[in-house]
Amino acid sequence: MASIFSLLCYLLMFLCSNTTLLAAGEANKTEIDRQSLLCFKSGIYSDPLRILNSWRNTSLNFCRWSGVTCGTGLPNRVVSLDLASAHLDGQISSCIAKLTSISQINLTDNHLSGAIPGELGKLAGLQTLMLAVNRLEGNIPDSLGTAVSLSYVNLASNNLTGAIPHSLASSSSLSKLILSHNNLTGAIPTTLFTNSSRLTTVDLQMNSLTGVIPPFSKVTALNYLCVTGNFLSGSIPPSIGNVSSLHYIFLGQNKLTGLIPESLSRIPKLLKLDLSINSLYGHVPLSLYNMSSLEFLQLGSNQILGSIPFEISKLVNLTFLSMENNLLSGSIPSAIGKLHSLFMLNLSNNTISGQIPSSVGNITQLGKLFLHDNDLSGNIPSSLC
Ligand SMILES: *[C@@H]1O[C@H](CO)[C@@H](O)[C@H](O)[C@H]1NC(C)=O
Ligand SMILES: *[C@@H]1O[C@H](CO)[C@@H](O)[C@H](O)[C@H]1NC(C)=O
Ligand SMILES: *[C@@H]1O[C@H](CO)[C@@H](O)[C@H](O)[C@H]1NC(C)=O
Ligand SMILES: *[C@@H]1O[C@H](CO)[C@@H](O)[C@H](O)[C@H]1NC(C)=O
Ligand SMILES: *[C@@H]1O[C@H](CO)[C@@H](O)[C@H](O)[C@H]1NC(C)=O
Ligand SMILES: *[C@@H]1O[C@H](CO)[C@@H](O)[C@H](O)[C@H]1NC(C)=O
Ligand SMILES: *[C@@H]1O[C@H](CO)[C@@H](O)[C@H](O)[C@H]1NC(C)=O
Ligand SMILES: *[C@@H]1O[C@H](CO)[C@@H](O)[C@H](O)[C@H]1NC(C)=O
Ligand SMILES: *[C@@H]1O[C@H](CO)[C@@H](O)[C@H](O)[C@H]1NC(C)=O
Ligand SMILES: *[C@@H]1O[C@H](CO)[C@@H](O)[C@H](O)[C@H]1NC(C)=O
Ligand SMILES: *[C@@H]1O[C@H](CO)[C@@H](O)[C@H](O)[C@H]1NC(C)=O
Ligand SMILES: *[C@@H]1O[C@H](CO)[C@@H](O)[C@H](O)[C@H]1NC(C)=O
Repeated sequence: MASIFSLLCYLLMFLCSNTTLLAAGEANKTEIDRQSLLCFKSGIYSDPLRILNSWRNTSLNFCRWSGVTCGTGLPNRVVSLDLASAHLDGQISSCIAKLTSISQINLTDNHLSGAIPGELGKLAGLQTLMLAVNRLEGNIPDSLGTAVSLSYVNLASNNLTGAIPHSLASSSSLSKLILSHNNLTGAIPTTLFTNSSRLTTVDLQMNSLTGVIPPFSKVTALNYLCVTGNFLSGSIPPSIGNVSSLHYIFLGQNKLTGLIPESLSRIPKLLKLDLSINSLYGHVPLSLYNMSSLEFLQLGSNQILGSIPFEISKLVNLTFLSMENNLLSGSIPSAIGKLHSLFMLNLSNNTISGQIPSSVGNITQLGKLFLHDNDLSGNIPSSLC
């Protein structure tokens, strides 16, 4: 009996000491998170709204510090850091990468400068990285592509330079990549539009990217593509027509040449297409006028030839049609009057001739009509009034 009792005692002691050890180990991770947050704070020089006042070394319960969210389980670990629009001035300390349970970082709209710490790539659970609207400089670290859970990256409106890392472009976890309004150079990595079933949004507008738009293959969820305002050249890859998930394509203000690919018309639910301010030439493929889902069509400032066919009437949902500054000829088809949703029609600065069809007066929504600098003749139809 006595021996059983002592055995039980030993067992209890063993279990107890083991749990204390475990608790100590876990408390330790908690303490590492707390110290990492304090270390992050030490990189902030100015906090005019005193957002980080609660972040003190003497305060143990960091889960209540402003902007910090901990997971629901124990031990307490930081899962999210949200200090958006906090007017913080300073640098993003690499200590942030010691928050090994973090899944979301939102430092949008501050005055943070310096580089993006490459150590962020080690965070295996990091899903969302939002650093937009700051003053960050330097390259996007190559290592970001190694963050295996990274899904949403928004680094827009900073002062980032260098190329888009290939590792990031090849990341199979990536869903949204927003790098607009920086000064990124080099080519769009060839792997970006290849072999990704997760990629939904790519916004690279207003950078200094060069080279061609790489071909599309096995991107099955891409919905939003914007590369407006770069120095992209070459022709639009015909494989874009295979991306049937696309709703928005913005390729304006580049140096694209060649013909408008006929394959675009295979995209079943395209809403907006902007190819304006490029050097595209030739005729608009007739099949493009079959894209009845289109609401915005911008083809202005290219070298597009030919006349506007009566088939334009098939674009029943069109609200915005701009084809100004091209080499269009022929007359305006009467069928244009069937575009009942049309609000803005810009055909200025072409060589369009003939009369303005009176059917234009049937477009009750029409708010803006630009037909100047053409060879139009005859009367202004009274129906327009
Ligand atoms: C973590 O615990 C170990 C011993 O278990 C100790 O040596 C170390 O100093 C602790 N670290 C922190 C940050 O508390
Ligand atoms: C917090 O206090 C501890 C103990 O005094 C000290 O070791 C640590 O360096 C302090 N951390 C910061 C970020 O000041
Ligand atoms: C990050 O903060 C911005 C600004 O407050 C907010 O609009 C956005 O929804 C936040 N993003 C996430 C993923 O929480
Ligand atoms: C971006 O960097 C350039 C060159 O270093 C500098 O002249 C410019 O002011 C910076 N812009 C912003 C918004 O920080
Ligand atoms: C972008 O960088 C190039 C050189 O890399 C520089 O000439 C240009 O002024 C920069 N543009 C902006 C808006 O900072
Ligand atoms: C496509 O992705 C699959 C799974 O992620 C991978 O096994 C395959 O090697 C990739 N193929 C190419 C051409 O990248
Ligand atoms: C489009 O996809 C089909 C198969 O679905 C393929 O045969 C064709 O080569 C692709 N076209 C382009 C231009 O990539
Ligand atoms: C437009 O669609 C119609 C009906 O689906 C089809 O018969 C015609 O061939 C298409 N036109 C072009 C130029 O693709
Ligand atoms: C036109 O727009 C309406 C309303 O948004 C929508 O229900 C309809 O499906 C659209 N038509 C086409 C051909 O996409
Ligand atoms: C009219 O269009 C031509 C191209 O067709 C262009 O070169 C010219 O600058 C345009 N004129 C105006 C006033 O925009
Ligand atoms: C229509 O095109 C002319 C150029 O011919 C341009 O000046 C004007 O801003 C355009 N209007 C709109 C609303 O885009
Ligand atoms: C305007 O629409 C009405 C009704 O749909 C139609 O009878 C008329 O012919 C149209 N006018 C023109 C000039 O197309």
